[in-house]
Amino acid sequence: QTLNQVSADIDLGEYEHYMLKEIFEQPTTIENAMRGRLNYDEATAIFGGLNLSSQQLRQIDRIVLTACGTSWHAALVGEYLIEEFARIPVEVEYASELRYRNPPMSDQTMVFAITQSGETADTLAAMKECKRKGHTTMAICNVVGSTIAREADGGIYLHAGPEIGVASTKAFTSQVTVLTLLALYLGRMRHLSYSAGQNIIRKLKDIPKQVEKALECHEAVKTIAEKYASMNNFLYLGRLYNFPVALEGALKLKEISYIHAEGYPAAEMKHGPIALVDEQTPSVFIVPRCGIYPKVISNLQEVKARKGPVIAIACEGDDRVAELADDVIYVPDVDECLQPLVASIPLQLLAYHIAILRDCNVDRPRNLAKSVTVE
Ligand code: G6P
Repeated sequence: QTLNQVSADIDLGEYEHYMLKEIFEQPTTIENAMRGRLNYDEATAIFGGLNLSSQQLRQIDRIVLTACGTSWHAALVGEYLIEEFARIPVEVEYASELRYRNPPMSDQTMVFAITQSGETADTLAAMKECKRKGHTTMAICNVVGSTIAREADGGIYLHAGPEIGVASTKAFTSQVTVLTLLALYLGRMRHLSYSAGQNIIRKLKDIPKQVEKALECHEAVKTIAEKYASMNNFLYLGRLYNFPVALEGALKLKEISYIHAEGYPAAEMKHGPIALVDEQTPSVFIVPRCGIYPKVISNLQEVKARKGPVIAIACEGDDRVAELADDVIYVPDVDECLQPLVASIPLQLLAYHIAILRDCNVDRPRNLAKSVTVE
């Protein structure tokens, strides 16, 4: 089936664009990614398709996550999660690089290809190269029966339903959800305690509701978009779990509104991007409550001191940020490791509204394809 055929079958309902519809589907798609995969009594996750025994999984000493585009950003969140919960060293590789590189990989390195479509040429080639060398390869994939899903030794489906908008939204949050479950699963085979595992499960179960709440920022984001839609350069800044969120926020804006945007770890700003800051260059700070909240706030102040407009994504009730930033978009306060799931929502909406205001085709942006099946 071609993309046109698939989209013809899917009703837009009350929405004007597939992208917006898919953004609003996320409470459900995240729920679907978790469905039947949480085992509270054993404080772990359940996967039916890894096709490996727990002994085999226990022996993994390194994980390589490989992907392209948005899926690569999900992989970065996955790296932080797996290293934190399971203490297994993780490497995130661009598939287009990995396919031609020859990094040393121990026998017990497991490779995960992360891909919405399951058809991205570079991701497939990187996976095949790893497979040829004898590594166990897994797919984290949305499209059932896709090439990468079939080539892998096992895998995990997202169950997000068809994603039509070229710029990925719901697949990203589903990938992050599945990677959280994977980190929990691997963690519970190793260092993660029973109570820590149960705690994560409890918080994960709340996420669909919190994402629903995060979507309530829609109108506020629309107003903010009007203020900034004419600007031609944006910075997106976040730290730790929110660094990949910053990269993804910048990518969304680039993809659909053709505005130059750069994502950076907030503290790296002083090593270059700060030179770009001026009154016409807004910085989007992802600054929810976290262990290093004061550090992110001081990064934000550095931008303000240079007259850069600041849009902050912050936790509900954070009045301090409201005093410092020009505009604030509030999201629910969730555990640090789950923040990407709620913080991405306003960034998707911001890109969407800015693109609409600039008369761009949000579902089919120029020069981009939903699935890049050539090198
Ligand atoms: C294309 C799409 C992106 C996507 C990337 C990877 O560039 O436009 O939205 O993130 O491919 O696609 P995949 O299907 O492998 O996740």
